[in-house]
Amino acid sequence: MFDLIVRGGTLADGRIADIGITGDTIAAVDDLSSAEAGTVIEAAGDLVTPPFVDPHFHLDATLSYGLPRINASGTLLEGIGLWGELKQIVTQDEMIDRALAYCDWAVSQGLLAIRSHVDTCDDRLLGVEAMLEVRARVRPYLDLQLVAFPQDGWYRAPGAEAQVIRALDAGVDVVGGIPHFERTMADGAASVRAACELAADRGLRVDLHCDESDDPNSRHIETLAAETIRCGLQGRVTGSHLTSMHSMDNYYVAKLIPLIAEAQVAAIPNPLINITLQGRMDSYPKRRGMTRVPELRAAGVTVAFGQDCVRDPWYPLGSGDMLDVAHMGLHVALMTSPEQMRTAYQMVTETPAQIMGLDFGLEPGKRGSLVVMDAPDPIEALRLRPARLCVVSDGRVVARTAPQTCTLTAGF
Ligand code: FE2
Repeated sequence: MFDLIVRGGTLADGRIADIGITGDTIAAVDDLSSAEAGTVIEAAGDLVTPPFVDPHFHLDATLSYGLPRINASGTLLEGIGLWGELKQIVTQDEMIDRALAYCDWAVSQGLLAIRSHVDTCDDRLLGVEAMLEVRARVRPYLDLQLVAFPQDGWYRAPGAEAQVIRALDAGVDVVGGIPHFERTMADGAASVRAACELAADRGLRVDLHCDESDDPNSRHIETLAAETIRCGLQGRVTGSHLTSMHSMDNYYVAKLIPLIAEAQVAAIPNPLINITLQGRMDSYPKRRGMTRVPELRAAGVTVAFGQDCVRDPWYPLGSGDMLDVAHMGLHVALMTSPEQMRTAYQMVTETPAQIMGLDFGLEPGKRGSLVVMDAPDPIEALRLRPARLCVVSDGRVVARTAPQTCTLTAGF
């Protein structure tokens, strides 16, 4: 007897299986045709996978597009300036309402865990308090992991380092940073060292916005990997974006990527944002700006795709659908073989869960969280980005969507 059974789902590897959940935990993945359950979901051959996970987002800024004005240049730097204007006038209630609305979008699409950077460059820590409140309110159905993110610079913004520490004291989970936005490369390197030392002292993870530029000489990921090793943080550090690697000299990258692998630093490119924010100063050809995903993976680096932004000062579109993210990611990275497309699906489900330290997966003993897709396999899911027929979070059904249908009405 189980509390919930998903019957006849197709797993990502093509096996057909029933999944039995007891309480909040997967108890069996097998032929459970003779078993009973309080709730039965008939998957009938539809794809069943672990939930989607977004390892890089900005929940404090989401759904604020156009406030107080639109980003005219489309650049990262104008977006930072615009957010600086908005955070002077936004209220805590507005931030909470928008974040909760986004979490509803997320859950409806099977996105059950988000790592969100939260801007700490504000004496009041308004955003930090707002996101801690949101984290508490969504905890029953969505894992929200918060990163203390000094948006205006660890050293460049007055008091930023102390505010990161205050945010961590208040319960924020991960140490963040933005070395490419410091005044000098030297300040950037110093901020990487400070972030790693702080994380080592407190036993925390690190996730830095790192080398988010088209500058082929940006070297902060090198420093991050070296500091990870020096501080003994292997397996707990992530470099987000790493877009400069797109433009780096191949000889240098041939040394850099093995260093990242040695340090067990994970990489999180954000395809929708990288393809629109980078290359803005190029004429033609315009660089794509996304980091070197297949090459990092081939070296053994853990790489997951993030969403980064949905309708905010940096990006006008987005819907919380991680399949949009993977779809863009596999295009930009030229990952179009069947094996690579299956990998792209994992890069928005299992791989980001691993980076965030979450116990998701369709195996006995793992958390009872999953999504039933209106598609037979991961590649069709990427092609169609179909309805999430049923979303289960820790053993509870939290969202259902009817399959899309179309009736042709003329000339047939
Ligand atoms: Fe970001």
